[in-house]
Amino acid sequence: MGIGREREGAVLVLRFERLDRKNALTAPMYADLADALEEAAADDGTRVVVFAGDPSVFTAGNDLGDFLANPPHDEDAPVFRFLREIASFPKPLVAAVCGPAVGVGTTLLLHCELVYAGENAQFILPFVNLGVCPEAASTLLLPALAGYVRAAEKLLLGELFSALEAYEMGLVNRVLPPDEVEGFARAQAQKLAAKPLASVLETKRLMKRAQGALVAETMAEEGAVFSRMLTEPAAREAFMAFMQKRKPDFSQL
Ligand code: COA
Repeated sequence: MGIGREREGAVLVLRFERLDRKNALTAPMYADLADALEEAAADDGTRVVVFAGDPSVFTAGNDLGDFLANPPHDEDAPVFRFLREIASFPKPLVAAVCGPAVGVGTTLLLHCELVYAGENAQFILPFVNLGVCPEAASTLLLPALAGYVRAAEKLLLGELFSALEAYEMGLVNRVLPPDEVEGFARAQAQKLAAKPLASVLETKRLMKRAQGALVAETMAEEGAVFSRMLTEPAAREAFMAFMQKRKPDFSQL
């Protein structure tokens, strides 16, 4: 339980494996993901990394209980280490997304080269509903990808959107039947792994070059604001409400 690592030739599959909690991510899981990416970046035998979950759920995002009990205090917190790793990872990242992709489950896709989604995929960016702010440089990358008003709708209202809408926004390359998504993503990853490595790495580096510093700066600012907001009353109310299975009451906040 945690983060599964599967190797298929030069492709490394990192799998969210915590199905009883809908693959919600805890600090140890973020640390594991960050370590795996750091190792994969340095490992000559790894050319592509695939993120996968279960056919029924990609990930429910941050584990809300874990965040409430152990809020990330500084930039070395595992969640922020993971976000920096995905933003700076030099090799291609591929995602196979089925079922709910909540919070970081959606924002991490903004750092992937190829994203394949099941018809059952559901994307949601609930940061405002939780009394915090978005992360993973999504406040920069989503408006750039989808246009300002579409990004604002997703980030401010925090409502669920479908695989088709994600495809139309440019967040997803292709929508497939759920039982075909991971196989297709793995096959695409194998195609990338068979290309000349230096060309792939330089192409990715050049595509990311103009935005790199801005992404890092945005992520740092979001991280500082997110950490502060986590300790404030709106987030505490939202998180407690989730735990207690009731609607949050923000009327006084
Ligand atoms: N953190 C902690 N626990 C979570 C969780 C999360 N992010 N997401 C789900 N769980 C827990 C639920 O509390 C539930 O626990 P229980 O069995 O003790 O009641 C269990 O996982 C199953 O979740 P449930 O809500 O019953 O499944 P579902 O299929 O009806 O809905 C989701 C799945 C992902 C849509 C829903 O769980 C959800 O919205 N989760 C919260 C996501 C969220 O706000 N994440 C934070 C992003 S910053």
